[in-house]
Amino acid sequence: MSEPLKLGIAGLGTVGTGVLELITANAEILRKRCGRDVVVTAVSARSRARDRGVDISQYEWFDDCAAMGWAADIDVLVELIGGEDGPAKAAVEAALGAGRHVVTANKAMLAYHGTALARLAEEKDVALGFEAAVAGGIPIVKTMRESFAGNRADKIFGILNGTCNYILTSMQKEGRGFAEVLKAAQELGYAEADPTFDIGGFDTAHKLAILTSLAFGTEVDFGSVYVEGIENVTSQDIQIAGELGYRIKLLGVAFETDSGIEQRVHPTLVPAQSSIAQVDGAFNAVVARGDFVGSIMLEGQGAGAGPTASSVIADIVDIARGNVFPALGQPSSELRPYKRARMRAHQGGYYVALEVQDRPGAFAAIAQRMAEQKISLKSIVQRGSEIDVDIEPGEGGSTQETRAVVLITHDTLEKSIRDALANIEADGDITQAPRMIRIEEL
Ligand code: HSE
Repeated sequence: MSEPLKLGIAGLGTVGTGVLELITANAEILRKRCGRDVVVTAVSARSRARDRGVDISQYEWFDDCAAMGWAADIDVLVELIGGEDGPAKAAVEAALGAGRHVVTANKAMLAYHGTALARLAEEKDVALGFEAAVAGGIPIVKTMRESFAGNRADKIFGILNGTCNYILTSMQKEGRGFAEVLKAAQELGYAEADPTFDIGGFDTAHKLAILTSLAFGTEVDFGSVYVEGIENVTSQDIQIAGELGYRIKLLGVAFETDSGIEQRVHPTLVPAQSSIAQVDGAFNAVVARGDFVGSIMLEGQGAGAGPTASSVIADIVDIARGNVFPALGQPSSELRPYKRARMRAHQGGYYVALEVQDRPGAFAAIAQRMAEQKISLKSIVQRGSEIDVDIEPGEGGSTQETRAVVLITHDTLEKSIRDALANIEADGDITQAPRMIRIEEL
């Protein structure tokens, strides 16, 4: 049997502790599958004294994780600190620079520096594994890098944030509002005390930027991702979407168009019958579409100690077996520069929610603004009841009240819908800024 594979773990939070537990619990399984022992020899964290429920006294301790990266007696640095820069990046660069393999769960670091770190790993002929960085326990990185390798992708999309999916699912099933559900999720520990990263869509955007590179063979370009969070989705949106045969999910979508690749994160109406619409609670799912394989979907737990540790170990097993792949699926010199498709050129259906003054001519004026932009309406819903799309001038009643109105459009240009909504707002027939949610027919 070969020499043991020696690991140094930087970061002993939930995931780091989970990795220690997995290595201990499944040591024999790992030994058989890797053909060698997998052992932890060094650790580094913020506090040495903190009680983590695991004994770390047997490992060499480093206050400085970067020093562990280059100086410790390790083959692999396992980076579980997080953050795009700071100690995490310093430790990863130190380890790669010293010719050590790196395994990381750090989506933010890869979103910002993925291409440069992949290049550094290649120069040193070592692995940069990041299965745990995208969708927790779902093996989507290996799937894209290995099983999907014979395909040309045209689309990859997914539910990549469990917190958002938990909130949207609870709003749908319990009819409660966003703020109330978020508070309950925080009390239950499903949402962070500062949930901005999750609910604002940024965590999803980090993961999407990595998936885009794997699917399309492009350099990682997080700065080009269009991002909207779920903060403005109302329980009324979810209810009306349901009446029209849709569910609302926060999707990350990368799609190849004639003018470039769209990378977008936003709340999305998806057909209620689609597979992705059935993914509820804190679960994640990713759908990849290739020219030969067709469409595949992977679903599972996107966070938590066990699922994330499982993905960290998957990369470690590859290294132990001697499988070193180009991190982004092909040599970094072969990655094409990312070419951005502009959001204003996006084409799709739209859900538009308006609070309309209930006075003669208001509905007709709105329909007119849509028609000017050549936007075809599929349906109109007023307070949950569907009415005819042919509206006569004078529709409405009292001039004192407002009506909640939802329009569903056929496919149209994003520029057209934005221009129409700007005109509608300027006309003064609505009492709140219009809200729109994109529709993905899948
Ligand atoms: N906070 C993330 C989520 C998991 O809610 O899915 C880590 O990316």
